[in-house]
Amino acid sequence: MDLGLSSSIAVIIGGSSGIGLACARQFLAEHAQVAIWDIQPPASDINALYLPVDITSLADLQTALETTATQLGPIQHVVNAAAVGSGKFGSPFTSLTPRDWHRVLEVNIQGMTNVAHALTPHILHQSTGTFTFIASVAGQIGSPTDPPYSASKAANINFAKVMAKDLAAHNIRVNTVCPGMVKTPLNQAVWRSWNERQPPDQQLEYDDWAQQKIAALVPLNRWQSADDIAHMVVFLASEKAAQITGQTINVDGGYVI
Ligand SMILES: NC(=O)c1ccc[n+]([C@@H]2O[C@H](COP(=O)([O-])OP(=O)(O)OC[C@H]3O[C@@H](n4cnc5c(N)ncnc54)[C@H](O)[C@@H]3O)[C@@H](O)[C@H]2O)c1
Repeated sequence: MDLGLSSSIAVIIGGSSGIGLACARQFLAEHAQVAIWDIQPPASDINALYLPVDITSLADLQTALETTATQLGPIQHVVNAAAVGSGKFGSPFTSLTPRDWHRVLEVNIQGMTNVAHALTPHILHQSTGTFTFIASVAGQIGSPTDPPYSASKAANINFAKVMAKDLAAHNIRVNTVCPGMVKTPLNQAVWRSWNERQPPDQQLEYDDWAQQKIAALVPLNRWQSADDIAHMVVFLASEKAAQITGQTINVDGGYVI
């Protein structure tokens, strides 16, 4: 299926690793031009403009916008996959302190807010475009694994709906895509923080921990790949999804039913 993205320019924020990197590759496969904005360079070779950006800095985002527009042209599609967890196992929530929430909320909520404020005037100027935010099933079920992460993802889902309502009159669509379980550095960090808290005889290798979790929680009983998520993201950016805005789309093997 030709998604009709070949003359478009997409910015993938958090596009240097995992799901964001897969999104960048999928846009390239659709012959779009791609800029990756991330705090670290891409994990592997990719034909994209890389710019160092920390989404907690509005100034970084504004500079990257100017550079991208100058070097590639006007941006139509924005994907935000940048996020962090607390790095600690948060069950029960009292095992964290309120200070453990600061960085997670700063990156995941304030970062999304900065992305929205930095890029909306530019996209509005073109009278068409899309924002796709990668949230999580954790933002829908009150996942106890990492409460600040979970709460931040709920905020992403909520604010994306606000954006969708405000921008619909300008033909700008805004959606969130929620992965379930994808093998990435972020997911591995969740396992590591869980494993560190277990007594030695109950510790598990990453794949065993994941397989147990998937068998217990995922009806289709399998991981999602980064490409599974990226396929949904490029579809949402395309005109094939012209009627879809303000939606929370789970690509999760049925985790949230
Ligand atoms: N992996 C999973 O199982 C899973 C499940 C549900 C949701 N998600 C979501 O998918 C998205 C992508 O995560 P991933 O699993 O691919 O993780 P990842 O760690 O592989 O990628 C995250 C990227 O974000 C970048 N980043 C982090 N902080 C940043 C900042 N302040 N400014 C700019 N870039 C920053 C990192 O450098 C990295 O390249 C995240 O929003 C995550 O919450 C992942």
